[in-house]
Amino acid sequence: MKGVVFVIFEDFVVENWGEETFEDLMDLCPHIASEPFVSPKTYPDNWMVDMLLAACGKLNVTPDVALRMFGKFAFSRLNQRVPVPAQDISHPLPFLISVHDVIHIEVRKMMDEASPPNFTYERPAPDQLIMHYHSKRQLCHLMEGLLEGVAEHFQVPIEYKQTSCTHRGDQNCVFWLQFATAP
Ligand code: HEM
Repeated sequence: MKGVVFVIFEDFVVENWGEETFEDLMDLCPHIASEPFVSPKTYPDNWMVDMLLAACGKLNVTPDVALRMFGKFAFSRLNQRVPVPAQDISHPLPFLISVHDVIHIEVRKMMDEASPPNFTYERPAPDQLIMHYHSKRQLCHLMEGLLEGVAEHFQVPIEYKQTSCTHRGDQNCVFWLQFATAP
């Protein structure tokens, strides 16, 4: 996983619970290198899982809840920290389609070793979107938080429900989204 996600995770912990809490978390993960995370580097996926589990113990939340909270926090930071080309989009539905068609394509081009997830889409109605999330990392709860961050950013409420999940043995994770307004 790219360093930018680790940098944002550190900000998430420090801004919400303080520097000392982040240091305590790192003490619980002695196998993780002690030098500061940097955006262009790539770190093992399991480091993120280990930090998250350490955070759950410390903050008394489940991994699903912690991932969702982190995803909501992470969306605006990814938007600020990753220089993808500006797009003239004012509604979350076309924006979410552009995550696969534009944003994650740019991420692959500009960051060595980046492997963001793939999405496929269905448009059952003008104000609805079905997103199929494909990733070996199985971070569908992070995805939920990112969706909440997108809704907040565009000020358009999104109701979502997950109709399939790889954690339950389905082939991929499927999210059914209902937007408060059509684009
Ligand atoms: C400006 C917007 C966005 C930027 C710049 C961005 C960029 C990135 C980057 C750099 C990564 C790390 C890839 C890696 O380490 O290999 C990532 C991962 C990810 N992105 Fe995006 N992203 C954006 C929006 C979104 C949105 C809106 C969603 C879904 C609603 C999404 C879903 C994910 C997920 C779930 C991952 C975790 C990796 C995985 O599941 O395999 N991203 N993104």
